Amino acid sequence: MKTWFITGVSRGLGLALAQAALARGDTVVGTVRAGAPDLVAGPGVLHVLTLDMTDAQSLPSVVDQAFALAGTIDVVVNNAGYGLLGAIETATDDEVARLFEVDFFAPFRLIRTALPHLRTQGRGHIVNVTSIAGRAPGAGSGLYAAAKFALEGLSASLAQEVAPIGVHVTAVAPGAFRTDFLSSHSIRKSEAAAGDYDASVGKAAQAFDGMAGRQLGDPARAAEAILAIVDAKAPPRQLLLGSDALRRAREKLDAQIAEMDAWEAATLATDHA
Ligand SMILES: NC(=O)c1ccc[n+]([C@@H]2O[C@H](COP(=O)([O-])OP(=O)(O)OC[C@H]3O[C@@H](n4cnc5c(N)ncnc54)[C@H](OP(=O)(O)O)[C@@H]3O)[C@@H](O)[C@H]2O)c1
Repeated sequence: MKTWFITGVSRGLGLALAQAALARGDTVVGTVRAGAPDLVAGPGVLHVLTLDMTDAQSLPSVVDQAFALAGTIDVVVNNAGYGLLGAIETATDDEVARLFEVDFFAPFRLIRTALPHLRTQGRGHIVNVTSIAGRAPGAGSGLYAAAKFALEGLSASLAQEVAPIGVHVTAVAPGAFRTDFLSSHSIRKSEAAAGDYDASVGKAAQAFDGMAGRQLGDPARAAEAILAIVDAKAPPRQLLLGSDALRRAREKLDAQIAEMDAWEAATLATDHA
């Protein structure tokens, strides 16, 4: 039986993960921005705290409260987040600042607050929900990709920092999952229109619109995959979720290796003689 702290259990992947953990008897401290999540607690134990990820002042006390409620926490999940679609050229400072606040700075602050507790425990697992956009980005979601790349980078470094103290870190990168992610309740679109980008950004936006409600990924199955990694003796540092994510990640890596090989001579020519 495990204890969890999960951000964003009101909907989508966070709700599915919290429900799967509760169904097997785990204890979940979940956060919502408002209201009560549609979760059946038994046989597990559910505590719900209120947290808006943009509220940097409240975040540390909510994390401390979660540890106080649960005693110890085995798994800390940075799940809450949202996407921003649009051309990089037309994104406003406010749009980008808010996106990074929710998708990167809040997860960072949460980890920073949780770490002293996890160090005292001498064990724990931090799961950061990133995105395939944070590994193999396409056009039209450059700033979302940038925020998720940042969380991927932090995760990869943090995993090495905290391994000696018994804490695992996994960056979980989903492909397209059938949640509210692409709904108007969640996804944000840059306000400014960018006519010259019809062939790239416009095409991507249309593809996202067409995908809403028909995404391949099943949130309940994503939850099972996350349960499996936190139960594993040797959890991965990165996990892709979904066949689309696997295909995109492989294509990206193959292209990256091919380009690295093609330009190897230029790369090697820069060392001191
Ligand atoms: N579904 C996908 O296709 C997909 C793909 C790649 C990555 N992801 C990532 O997966 C994670 C979960 O997304 P999802 O698919 O479950 O989307 P979702 O159905 O839209 O759920 C998003 C969750 O994040 C919460 N949230 C958003 N902004 C918040 C804020 N400022 N403060 C606190 N909570 C906030 C939402 O709470 P409210 O109910 O209060 O809005 C909700 O619980 C996100 O990090 C997302 O980037 C999703």
